[in-house]
Amino acid sequence: MKIKAILFCLLLAGVAHGQDQKMDRFIDELLRKMTVEEKLGQLNLSSGVGDLKVITEGEGRLDYIKQGLIGSAWGMNSQKAAVEESRMGIPLITGRDVIHGYKTTFPIPLAMSCMWDVEKIEKMARISAIEASCAGINWTYSPMVDISRDPRWGRVAEGAGEDPYLGSLIAKAYVRGYQGDDLSKENTILACVKHFALYGAPEAGRDYNTVDMSRITMYEDYLPPYKAAVEAGVGTAMTSFNVVDMVPATGNKWLMTDLLREDWGFDGFVVTDYTAINEMIHHGLGDLQTVAVKALKAGVDMDMVGQSYIGTLKKSLEEGKVTEDEIDRACRRILEAKYKLGLFDKPYQYFDEERAEKYWLSDEHQAYARELAARSCVLLKNSNEVLPLKKEGAIAVIGPLANSKIDMLGTWAATRDTTDIVPIIDGIRNVAGTNADVLFAQGSYFTEDSFLINRRRAKDQQITIDKQKSKQLLDEAKEVADKADVIVAVLGEPRSWSGEASSRADIGLPECQQRLLKELLNTGKPVVLVLGNGRPLALSWENEHVDAMLETWHAGVQAGNGIADVLFGDFNPSGKITMTFPRVVGQAPIYYNHNRTGRPQNETSYFTSRYLDIPNTPLFPFGYGLSYTTFEYSDIQLNKNEFSANEKLVASVTVTNTGEYEGEEVVQLYINDPAASVSRPVKELKGFEKIVLAPGESKTVDFTITTDHLKFYNSDLEYGWEPGDFNIYIGTSSKEVKSEKVNWRK
Ligand code: BGC
Repeated sequence: MKIKAILFCLLLAGVAHGQDQKMDRFIDELLRKMTVEEKLGQLNLSSGVGDLKVITEGEGRLDYIKQGLIGSAWGMNSQKAAVEESRMGIPLITGRDVIHGYKTTFPIPLAMSCMWDVEKIEKMARISAIEASCAGINWTYSPMVDISRDPRWGRVAEGAGEDPYLGSLIAKAYVRGYQGDDLSKENTILACVKHFALYGAPEAGRDYNTVDMSRITMYEDYLPPYKAAVEAGVGTAMTSFNVVDMVPATGNKWLMTDLLREDWGFDGFVVTDYTAINEMIHHGLGDLQTVAVKALKAGVDMDMVGQSYIGTLKKSLEEGKVTEDEIDRACRRILEAKYKLGLFDKPYQYFDEERAEKYWLSDEHQAYARELAARSCVLLKNSNEVLPLKKEGAIAVIGPLANSKIDMLGTWAATRDTTDIVPIIDGIRNVAGTNADVLFAQGSYFTEDSFLINRRRAKDQQITIDKQKSKQLLDEAKEVADKADVIVAVLGEPRSWSGEASSRADIGLPECQQRLLKELLNTGKPVVLVLGNGRPLALSWENEHVDAMLETWHAGVQAGNGIADVLFGDFNPSGKITMTFPRVVGQAPIYYNHNRTGRPQNETSYFTSRYLDIPNTPLFPFGYGLSYTTFEYSDIQLNKNEFSANEKLVASVTVTNTGEYEGEEVVQLYINDPAASVSRPVKELKGFEKIVLAPGESKTVDFTITTDHLKFYNSDLEYGWEPGDFNIYIGTSSKEVKSEKVNWRK
């Protein structure tokens, strides 16, 4: 049996090798025939609209394509020009930011990470690929796997939160979902892990700001998800805008070649982020010709939009600043990707109206979007069991987000089409049924700051603030609230306040929304705060005063229905936050797996690491989220307490559903190394399991732990474990855990 398996593996390896050889021969042949200009053309990505004008000859994009000067384009109708009208007939590769769905928009990635369910994310990515690949798209600039610990940074909406372990599992799931098991199929697309690297750690949370971090922190906390994507076979990687060790990532050879390719074995192509080569001039690395040389030599293959390669590399070649081999190397990697996608055989396979008709916003995809909208919700507070709502009586739904369609799409939605979006108010009406009277009032603007309110994306509605209207909105809201038995306040951020170039220094609810909330609370009626936002917000005041809080993020095309399923208890919330929610913004950066200090907070001591005005702890810790039912955890059972190197620890807890609803719980395992050669974090996530329990039911969850779970990078960047004591924690969040101590000897 074993021999048969080995023979089969050898056969597969042989087939793969044969295919590789065939591809190599094909590309050798192409490269032999291509001019330098045509090779540089392959390294040139054109957006069609925002291209920097470095190349000037020719009539425009189509003309450049025919001349072979563009290898990748965003427009989706130029394939014919490339294949049938250019000298070499090399097809274009077409990328887009399909990051949480294509036509069927799912919740924002941060929201989906709160499901703690990698299979569901993989299926979402699969659906995204199926839908996008009908429209000519064969490459997505996703997954964005940048770890971030700072809620001010607007792009946290696009990632999976603050934890490298969970982030790595999610990174792999996206890659598997997009690329499937055969890239050459018409419904699989290339993934692009981004933004390599450390883009999620800009100083003070301001987008595009500088980054500075120790190598240990890089290796321990920030690099793992990129590496995981490489392990999953991601076909491309995108550079980040920031510096890494003071060298812009886009010109950083250590990052792009030594680490990515040599250490991790990445064998796809690297694309820059939008005009990132040109931006190295602002970083202070030299003129355009110089920075283009740096990028190519660092191992960066494709220039997104900046036209620095097509505009300057020929000159650099003539001046001996780059070699033709270096150009060929980049060109080869791009041609390989095109080959693997099947583009040379079937350049038009990604255009398919029939498939589009069948899959775009299909009933099945919409049902899945509804499920994910519900699953991404996190119940932050629920006092007096005000939730789930009853499907009767008068329910006042009030707030600027309640009837917004466009904002449900969240940042980076591939579509701006709002036709099918179910806003929250409609979802509540749909699910409440006919026995409930659902009332609505807008209540307030998102903000009365005219810059902020109109910082909306091109086609989003522009708003003029009118003080009179503002008062009128509030009066209407009070009137509606007075008629209700329960008030659902739907507040938060419009979609344009998170995502790229959308950092906020104040992450509370804007003043006019707070004013509205206070008026609603003044009615004395129960108030449920439904939050829609792209980042953790600072909600201390709200948490103190409202009865219930449900975090719904920006939940996608089926937002209203999915959220209403949760509000009325048709779906019992099971999401857990993947980013810490601070008490106030001054705590940022704030994250659960922080390191220790020599002066930990201590009430009796003066010289201690603390704030004078607030506790050190967050408002809601990583991994936190409530359910309509309650779970009780037993103490941890261990198979034993002392282990030698090759032994396995089995740590078990029994979880019992002690409430009245069936519910899902994410049982979380954390480990801490209390004494090592370097100071280690207070706690690190090392495993989790999602279980479903009927009322009264108990399940035992076993975590098997080996010395692999204990490994870390020391000051010499050696990866290993050190014998000694370890704390094992298992619980419902990073804060609420049971604990046990074990010992591992060499
Ligand atoms: C963003 C990337 C994105 C690219 C293309 C850039 O500005 O940083 O995440 O993929 O644009 O749209």
